[in-house]
Amino acid sequence: MKRRTFAIAPMMDWTDRHCRFFHRLLTRRALIYTEMITTGAVLFGERTRLLAFDPAEHPVAVQLGGSDPAALARSARICADMGYDEINLNIGCPSDRVQDGRFGACLMAEPILVGDCVAAMKAAVSIPVTVKCRIGIDDQDPEAALDTLTRTVMAAGVDALIVHARKAWLAGLSPKENRDVPPLDYERVYRLKRAYPHLDVVINGGIATLEDALEHLAHVDGVMLGRAAYQEPWRLLAVDREFFGEAPPFASVHAAARALIPHIEREVARGTKLSAITRHVLGLFHAVPGARAFRRHLATAAVKPGAGAEVFAAALALVAETELTQTAAA
Ligand SMILES: Cc1cc2nc3c(=O)[nH]c(=O)nc-3n(C[C@H](O)[C@H](O)[C@H](O)COP(=O)(O)O)c2cc1C
Repeated sequence: MKRRTFAIAPMMDWTDRHCRFFHRLLTRRALIYTEMITTGAVLFGERTRLLAFDPAEHPVAVQLGGSDPAALARSARICADMGYDEINLNIGCPSDRVQDGRFGACLMAEPILVGDCVAAMKAAVSIPVTVKCRIGIDDQDPEAALDTLTRTVMAAGVDALIVHARKAWLAGLSPKENRDVPPLDYERVYRLKRAYPHLDVVINGGIATLEDALEHLAHVDGVMLGRAAYQEPWRLLAVDREFFGEAPPFASVHAAARALIPHIEREVARGTKLSAITRHVLGLFHAVPGARAFRRHLATAAVKPGAGAEVFAAALALVAETELTQTAAA
């Protein structure tokens, strides 16, 4: 089974290292992604803080934002030396800040430059280099635009293409609207896979459940879930069984949550605020007695100065423990 069968999407402000550590407790096999990090931040920013990850996070991919091949190559090399398992280039993000920097989704209009970026990164590292894109932007024809981009990045040696199956509309929509308003077109992504059977194609966008994700695997090599994974992380505990035929890391969501306690203790001792960790776990319990009390306790107590692992343990004590089978079916 290939590594990219199931991935958790890169999400700014969400998939930080605490979130990734937590997700890794729920699935050993999902490929997880960092937030997008610009080449400027990698080369000139607080590199150690921005790129730090826990060895437990493997396999973990770093997502880069940039459009200068030399800067991307240097950034990719730094990330590979730090131990990341994959370098991903973001050409799907539509925010204004990103457009000003001439990277993100506007690069869908510059396939030759994207090819140069991929080629430069491939020459700099031996780990896989992948691209995350849209099916097109603005008035582009998704048939031609995605095809041209694909051929260009394949010629540059790309190891996989992750396609958010909708356009980005660069003028007039906020990044949030751009994740919901342009219609999804899964068929376009399936056609891409049929046209390039040797290319690893991962589909992303609007996949709400593991059942839906499994259906996509009849057409493409992998699925990437963003909001469903983040907002309903309890789903992740069934990933290893459903997608990889392996036992889940824990028999219950509750047990996985308890395994977060040593991480919390370590982090709080280093000065991390409890809420910086627990904000990622609020959706952990679903249709379980006490789920609301768990959320409420964390929302009020985890933000207090000096809050530590005991607050999280107390929140957990409010929730009934339910076996995986029941939780996954809920
Ligand atoms: C809060 C948030 C931040 C995001 N940040 C990034 C990002 O840094 N890089 C990126 O490629 N996509 C980013 N995305 C888009 C997701 O990776 C994904 O493509 C999108 O949410 C669609 O997948 P979904 O419907 O499964 O959530 C972000 C999405 C959200 C909700």
